[in-house]
This record gives sequence, structure tokens and C-alpha cells, in this order.
Amino acid sequence: MALKPLSVLAFALALTSTHADSSSYQDNSICACDQMMRSYGTSNAGLWGKDDWWQSGIALTLLADISSLDSSYNGTHFDTFATTYSEAPGYGGYTGFIDDYCDDEGWWAMGWLAAYDLTQNPDYLNLAISIYNDISNNKASCGGIIWEKGGNYLASIANELYIASAAGIANRVSADQKESYLDSATAIWDWLFSIGVSVRRPSGPTTRGVILSAAVELYRATGNSTYLDTARKIADAVTTTGSTFTGSNGVLTDCSNGCDDTSAIFKAALFRGLRQLQDATPQDTWKTWLTTNAQSTWSNDLSITTANGDTECQLGANLNGPVGNVTFVTQAAGLASLIAAWAVSS
Ligand SMILES: *[C@@H]1O[C@H](CO)[C@@H](O)[C@H](O)[C@H]1NC(C)=O
Ligand SMILES: *[C@@H]1O[C@H](CO)[C@@H](O)[C@H](O)[C@H]1NC(C)=O
Ligand SMILES: *[C@@H]1O[C@H](CO)[C@@H](O)[C@H](O)[C@H]1NC(C)=O
Repeated sequence: MALKPLSVLAFALALTSTHADSSSYQDNSICACDQMMRSYGTSNAGLWGKDDWWQSGIALTLLADISSLDSSYNGTHFDTFATTYSEAPGYGGYTGFIDDYCDDEGWWAMGWLAAYDLTQNPDYLNLAISIYNDISNNKASCGGIIWEKGGNYLASIANELYIASAAGIANRVSADQKESYLDSATAIWDWLFSIGVSVRRPSGPTTRGVILSAAVELYRATGNSTYLDTARKIADAVTTTGSTFTGSNGVLTDCSNGCDDTSAIFKAALFRGLRQLQDATPQDTWKTWLTTNAQSTWSNDLSITTANGDTECQLGANLNGPVGNVTFVTQAAGLASLIAAWAVSS
């Protein structure tokens, strides 16, 4: 990458771009988040990208995470939470962040829980609860959550998001309200593992990440270490070098053979879930995996340009590079790797 040292800013960024170590995850994350925010509200009010509906729920989560790591950055995009809360719920002709898919709704419930953690605004917790209540109306007779309302397909992702949301709500409501959310979470967890989810064909990093978040919330809610034991096994399987998900260089292979606009964002949930597990039960191997992935993102999957005097840190779909076509979705996924590395290193 050739950057003309025209200004102090360009010089500082040239340094940043060559050092994806623990001293620069913060700067890198902020530059990547500013870039993600350039696609906010450009096509749809309160949303990122163009018609990126549930993906915007993931972006909301990332914005809350980075804002909670850095109190000076917290104010920079703080209005976004209120704007999305008021502008986006009716997207697609629906109301209240509700649509026809339980996984879409689950991503939004997770986003609003993260926004609540940052702001302590009870409206956001109540919104997560109303989304959760709507998903709860879609249980199949076998016990699981249905993917598309009115259908009969059971996807693990909808169930994992439901467990994470239910246990997350249980951890945030008052003690007298906790039990029903916790009961829902444990019932779906038990159902999911009773049908052998852990031995089913790996369906990409998505479900592997959300189940880690779910396990951490369940552990917090119950003190039952079985949830962490299960999460450890899943995390080890995902992060092992030369495994289904991780290449011989320790970097996630997701999207190395291309990726559609939807699937590129799923790795964000893996970085987030593993970061939460690392906070709950640290392992050097996971920390190394997270920092290795962030360093590869920055070294191999980044394009720095300047436009209108702004430095734009653009991230692609494949963390091994080359950077390829950057979209809001690829940006969010790369940002998630940087935030996770920053969080576990600070
Ligand atoms: C972020 O800003 C909000 C609003 O000022 C404040 O309530 C919250 O405590 C801040 N959080 C952090 C981590 O700075
Ligand atoms: C802990 O959770 C596991 C998994 O749901 C469950 O089988 C076990 O009975 C729980 N242990 C206790 C002490 O509640
Ligand atoms: C980028 O997008 C163009 C146009 O859709 C496509 O032809 C090209 O293969 C893409 N490049 C990468 C690296 O994905």
C-alpha cells in the first residue's frame, strides 16, 4: 500500500496500517467503525447498507460493543441508537422490528440488548423483550423455534439466537421476572442438544458464534458451568489450526472461496461470541486466535483510501485477503474481528 506522506494524519495512518498489534486495535477498530457508519442511513432510514435489514441488527450490536470499550468514542455515533429505534422498526411494512423470520428478529433482540447494556435505556430492553415475545409464539410441537413463521423448517440459528436473547433478558430484568425467560432459554438449549446439534454438519461460523454467546448468558444466569464446558468444546473445535473453520495460518477460512452478501457478516457473531467466552473463561489459545485474525484482517483484507479529506479503512469479506469488493456487510464482519482483538487485549 503506497500512501503519500502529505500530512501528519496520513503518516500516522501509514504507521497504523503496518502495525496490527495490541497497540493499534483501538485505532483500527475506530477507523473501521467510522467506515461502517458511512453506510448508515444512506438508503434506508435507521439502517446500514441497502436493504440490509437483520444485518443492521448485527451492526447495532457492534456499535454498542465498540462504544462500551471506549468512552471517548461512545459519543461519536451515540445518536444512532435513538435514530434506529425511531426510524427503522417499520422497515418492510412491519412494526416493532418484527418480520416473518425468527432469526431476523433474534438478531435485532441481540442488538437491542447490547444497546441497553451501553445506555441503560429501559426502552431498549423492553424492545428486546417484545421481540423475544413475538419469537416465542413460533415454537414447533417438537420443541424448537421455527425459522420462517408459518413454516416447519427448524434452523439452529433461530434457536441459538432465541436462547441467547432469552438468557440475556433473564440477566437484565429484575429477579422476580427472571425465571420465565431463563426457563425458555434452558428448554431450547436442552432441545437443541438433544437433537444432536453438535454433531450436525457445520453450517459455517454463524451458529458456532451465537451458541457461545448463549452459553455465556446461561452461565451468568444459572452459575451452571456445564454451559461453559460445552462452549469450550465448540470454541476449541472452531479455532483449531487446520480445522474446518481455521486454516493452517490460524485465520478463519470463511469466505475464502467467495461469499454472498448475507453470509459474509456471519463471522461477526463468531468473533463476538468468542470474545464473550474469553471474558468469562479465558484461554490463551482463543486470545491468540482472535488477535491472529484481527492482524490478518488489517494486513491482508484492508484498503485505506482518502476521500473528501476522510481516511476510509475498508475491509473485505475474506480475512486472508485480497480485499475484494467492500460492502457494509464485509465491513461489519472485519470490524467485529478488530473489536474482539481489542477487547481481549485491553
Ligand atoms: C456512553 O454514553 C452514554 C450517554 O452519555 C452513557 O450513559 C454511558 O454510560 C456511556 N458509556 C460508556 C461506556 O462510555
Ligand atoms: C446444568 O446444565 C445442564 C445442561 O442443561 C443440565 O443437564 C444440568 O442438570 C444442570 N446442572 C444443574 C446442577 O442444574
Ligand atoms: C467484485 O465485483 C465484481 C462485479 O460484481 C466482480 O466481477 C468481481 O469478481 C468481484 N471481485 C471480488 C474479488 O470479489
